[in-house]
Amino acid sequence: MYKPGEKSPVILDGDPGHDDAIAWLIARASMMTDKALDIKAVTAVGGNVSLDKTAYNAMRVLTLLGMTEVPLAKGAEHPLMRELMSAPSVHGESGLDGPVLPEPELSLSSLTAVELMAKVLRESDEGVTIVSTGPLTNTAALLLAHPELKEKIRRISLMGGGVSHGNWTPAAEFNILVDPEAADIVFKSGVPILMSGLDVTEKALVLKDDVERIRAIGSKVGDIVWKWLEFFYQYHKKIGYEGAPMHDPCAVMALLHPEIFTVRDYHVEIETAGKYCQGATVADVRDIKKQEPNASVVLGLDREKFVDYLVEAVAAYR
Ligand code: RIB
Ligand code: CA
Repeated sequence: MYKPGEKSPVILDGDPGHDDAIAWLIARASMMTDKALDIKAVTAVGGNVSLDKTAYNAMRVLTLLGMTEVPLAKGAEHPLMRELMSAPSVHGESGLDGPVLPEPELSLSSLTAVELMAKVLRESDEGVTIVSTGPLTNTAALLLAHPELKEKIRRISLMGGGVSHGNWTPAAEFNILVDPEAADIVFKSGVPILMSGLDVTEKALVLKDDVERIRAIGSKVGDIVWKWLEFFYQYHKKIGYEGAPMHDPCAVMALLHPEIFTVRDYHVEIETAGKYCQGATVADVRDIKKQEPNASVVLGLDREKFVDYLVEAVAAYR
């Protein structure tokens, strides 16, 4: 999908978040190793915790990853048409609880997230990939404000939804449920979508031994990632998972290593109303009367190869 040396321009949009931070680490590692990706901008959105906190976490993560030269902008404080629902129970009050992180060594752009995203799209002489690992508010706002730039978006690789089930409710995954209207705009946009939903992300588990592999790397970045994973692992073990689900990293890994994933093209619609199914990503998996697909949906992966690539990415940081 994204070949070594291609340096394909990418915008990272998320709500760090332990798994957002690890997704960004993997994308940045590509710039130091196979050079498949070239991160042009990062945008923060309210989600796991408030926008102020996700923006501050983004500043600390970019500092840790040596990305202080990449422009970072604050985006939407709340969903397009709803109050923000956050998840401090999962990521802690700060949104990135666990290890002490470096204080920011970069400042926020004076542009809004939509203005920065539009600038990157306008200035790029090739299609830009948006990797969205939080609620889709910023991406939807970009599509609404700049329909003329739509064809400059190569793909939206998002973590969100699930064909078979939800996590925040039985039907809905958190990122989609926080802003279903935004997700509806994105899935109706006609932009190529790569959807890493819970069907794959809950199989992308980091197990105890894998956490120890990261710990054994023994670098400054490795120690922090190990502590993030330990935090995420302990929370998910408590609620019944076998390991730490690497939700957001799938949205990057599926671009870099598509050969380890199983993907099917489906027509996906977003339930924006309803009492029980609000925020559901309703995929048409029927063999007959199948609607024209609007998304490539990631359904499975080779977990061991996924973890090997994760370890490799962390080890790229000296
Ligand atoms: O449901 C998982 C998603 O919600 C991940 O993106 C996680 O970071 C949270 O935003
Ligand atoms: Ca996230």
